[in-house]
Amino acid sequence: MDLNKIYNVDCGQYMKSLPDACINLVVADPPYGVSRENAFSGYSRGIIRGLDEAWDIFGNEETYLGFTREWLSQVKRILVEHGSIFVWGNYRSIFQVQKCLEETGLHYKGLVVWVKRDAPPNVTCRGYAASTEYVLWYCKSKKGWVFNHDDLKKLNNGKQMRDFWDIQRTMTKREHTRHRTQKKYETAERIVVGHSRKNDIVYIPFAGSGTEIVACIRNRRNWLATETDKQYIDEIILPRICQEGWNNGGETDGLENRRYNEPV
Ligand SMILES: C[S@@+](CC[C@H](N)C(=O)[O-])C[C@H]1O[C@@H](n2cnc3c(N)ncnc32)[C@H](O)[C@@H]1O
Repeated sequence: MDLNKIYNVDCGQYMKSLPDACINLVVADPPYGVSRENAFSGYSRGIIRGLDEAWDIFGNEETYLGFTREWLSQVKRILVEHGSIFVWGNYRSIFQVQKCLEETGLHYKGLVVWVKRDAPPNVTCRGYAASTEYVLWYCKSKKGWVFNHDDLKKLNNGKQMRDFWDIQRTMTKREHTRHRTQKKYETAERIVVGHSRKNDIVYIPFAGSGTEIVACIRNRRNWLATETDKQYIDEIILPRICQEGWNNGGETDGLENRRYNEPV
């Protein structure tokens, strides 16, 4: 396996090409299925634009469940015995994801809530302002898993890590990219540091802007990633990870010699 590479392919297809028991941790931030063709757009202290990303439009629940089942179908096979998967979702998709995770035969270990105190208001004023996201933790084995208690404690100002993460969603200009569903770096770092060891292999099925890849690079984990949108790879991920010192596996020619689109 060629490590520390991003591939411009569908994650489900890519996973089929991986050997058994080769991945220590999967960190998945899949589409939540919240986008609409004619997404809402309105004002509240500035413009609020609903999500309308083509990759996030599924039409109905059955299609979303089918997509989720498909990409999850290989995860148990590719995980090492004590490997874990983390999957993100919102107040609705997380239940659909959990339904599919249960079907895989992986074992439920926990649920973490990301509390975003600075989330935008609900401009319709007809419901709660959505201020949370959820990440499910499942393991391959019932008996053993990686939980780096002391490292997580360090990331939490010396206090034991809790299952709610009170992290502002607002990013600095330096961190922020134009990807509309970029995760806050700290969320990715907690998962990577908490549930893998140095030099382990982390697989990131939905790379997006590359947040989870950056967490791997900064924390000395090997990684493999997939992303179907080539523009995100070319314009966001590669420049971002080159800044982190990624140089295509030891070669020093950076972007010119990238190999992300080669067959695996
Ligand atoms: C929610 S975003 C991930 C954001 C990422 N966590 C970050 O911080 O930037 C999901 C990404 O998955 C990509 N995607 C959607 N379906 C995919 C598939 N079947 N295989 C690989 N990537 C996919 C989308 O293009 C999108 O960039």
